[in-house]
Amino acid sequence: MAEYQTFEHDVLVIGAGGAGLRAAIEASAAGVSVALVCKSLLGKAHTVMAEGGLAAALANVDERDNWKVHFSDTMRGGQYLNNWRMAELHAKEAPERARELEAWGAVFDRTKDGRILQRNFGGHKYPRLAHVGDRTGLEMIRTLQDYGIHQGIEVYMECTVIRLLKDGERVVGALGYDRERGRFRLFKAKAIVLATGGIGRAYKISSNSWEYTGDGHSLAYHAGAELIDMEFVQFHPTGMVFPPSVRGILVTEGVRGEGGILKNSEGQRFMFDDIPANYKDQTADDPEEGWRYTQGDKTARRPPELLTRDHVARCIVREIKAGRGSPHGGVYLDIAWIKEKLPNASEHIKKKLPSMYHQFKQLADIDITQVPMEVGPTTHYVMGGIRIDAETQMSNVPGLFAAGECAAGLHGANRLGGNSLSDLIVFGKRAGEFAAAFAKENGNDQINAEQIEATARQSLAPFERGDGENPYQIQHDLQAMMQDLVGIVRNEEEMIRALEGIKKLWRRAENVSVAGNVEFNPGWHTALDLSNLLTVSEAITLSAIERRESRGAQFREDYPSKDEEFSKFNIAIGKDSDGNMKISRVPIPEITAELKQIIEEMG
Ligand code: FUM
Repeated sequence: MAEYQTFEHDVLVIGAGGAGLRAAIEASAAGVSVALVCKSLLGKAHTVMAEGGLAAALANVDERDNWKVHFSDTMRGGQYLNNWRMAELHAKEAPERARELEAWGAVFDRTKDGRILQRNFGGHKYPRLAHVGDRTGLEMIRTLQDYGIHQGIEVYMECTVIRLLKDGERVVGALGYDRERGRFRLFKAKAIVLATGGIGRAYKISSNSWEYTGDGHSLAYHAGAELIDMEFVQFHPTGMVFPPSVRGILVTEGVRGEGGILKNSEGQRFMFDDIPANYKDQTADDPEEGWRYTQGDKTARRPPELLTRDHVARCIVREIKAGRGSPHGGVYLDIAWIKEKLPNASEHIKKKLPSMYHQFKQLADIDITQVPMEVGPTTHYVMGGIRIDAETQMSNVPGLFAAGECAAGLHGANRLGGNSLSDLIVFGKRAGEFAAAFAKENGNDQINAEQIEATARQSLAPFERGDGENPYQIQHDLQAMMQDLVGIVRNEEEMIRALEGIKKLWRRAENVSVAGNVEFNPGWHTALDLSNLLTVSEAITLSAIERRESRGAQFREDYPSKDEEFSKFNIAIGKDSDGNMKISRVPIPEITAELKQIIEEMG
């Protein structure tokens, strides 16, 4: 019989980034008992990697901004595959959530007249990103943590959840283990919120740290929830490429928001080569935009470096493949050039981008106020995730809610920078509110001890196999394969090979072995993460094969154009009765006349 400690709460929140913290705060405010489980230490979350800001139509810098423009930008960025109701709620509620953060102590940068300062970011029509230098996510986590800690939330740090437990259709608890001592923990709960973030560790080059192994996606899928839009993996255009040990670490879009420009090895600002029609400057004096950006005879309405991330990442790959890359396989990102415009440029850069300054100085011995950085795309975010109801955030499994990156819908085929932080607080709040309401209406149900026994047995099995495979080798092989075969540029032949590779890796993972015992054993933790990584990799690959077109973050060289037919549905992954992945097409509901008109008016 497995030994475990039992904890009982009304609402269990799994994941303590921005969405999890915000959900826990809201559930707790509704008067229910809340447990917050984090895989790592409290405060260490990928939320801090959204450095450049939080998108909210506060209209502090440009008074023409409002929720309608934000809604329309988000839909355009997502190539209209978004859940439009989520995009509407997000655009309407983000300003209130941002002001609430400020009231709870977040110290945003200020306009001259003392309001929250907002900066430009890719795909946002007006300066919309409320920011704290280039440490916005960090400030958000600090604020939510400080506020949440006084709410009576029970926090379980360094605890990994390995299975959701059900009674009939409903989730009624979760089994996890504490990473230090390796002891099992049973959490009984009336409602569960998944807020586990992303899947970045399925790829070799990633801005995500070790925690992001698709746990929430995988837990939900195995509990019977559907995943949608998994083909849409966001490759942030700018990660560090050198030195090799830090490859993939994020270089915030805020650098480009503050005027940073991209150049190839020939000194060309290559983003001018590929400006879409709606970015081209058709009028000499555009009264709407005020600015024109020019290179030779090419002009753009906004800096072409601030096109959407999918577009910029592909242009960078094009330059590198054409042999116009930088020495370490990237391109150049230059913010130092602004000294031509600003007498105190060096101080200005250090003030606006302090983390970037220190990151490059300490990790690469480069002074970004003087010389360009070398950057290249890095796996940053997944638009796909658990299919949930727009209002309540509940999945198709009763009592199972999801918020933040592990939930899908808001971003469609491509997320705009800054929309992640606002997503976390808008939908984290909603998930907490509705999970608490669900918990109040539903009592504790029975947890079948056999589910616990089977999970414990399975997770301890790697200790029994003396001569199995090393988990790190399997993880490494998966990451390399996903990077090569299901990366920024995809085709059917390579993805079929990836699927076959994933099948082989599943077999190898079933034969994984680890030495030692459950205490302080990172090899065992890696072995347990494998099934999550393989689950999400398979879902990404299957969905990407099914979408025979290029749209947003998915670029298929064998289907390089958009196909109208594929604009009508989301691709969903569920589990069939034999335990295999099954694909279906979920029609996108017709948008309301009011929202349709807004999109048309915004052009
Ligand atoms: O570039 C960045 O600062 C990232 C922001 C985001 O992913 O939203």
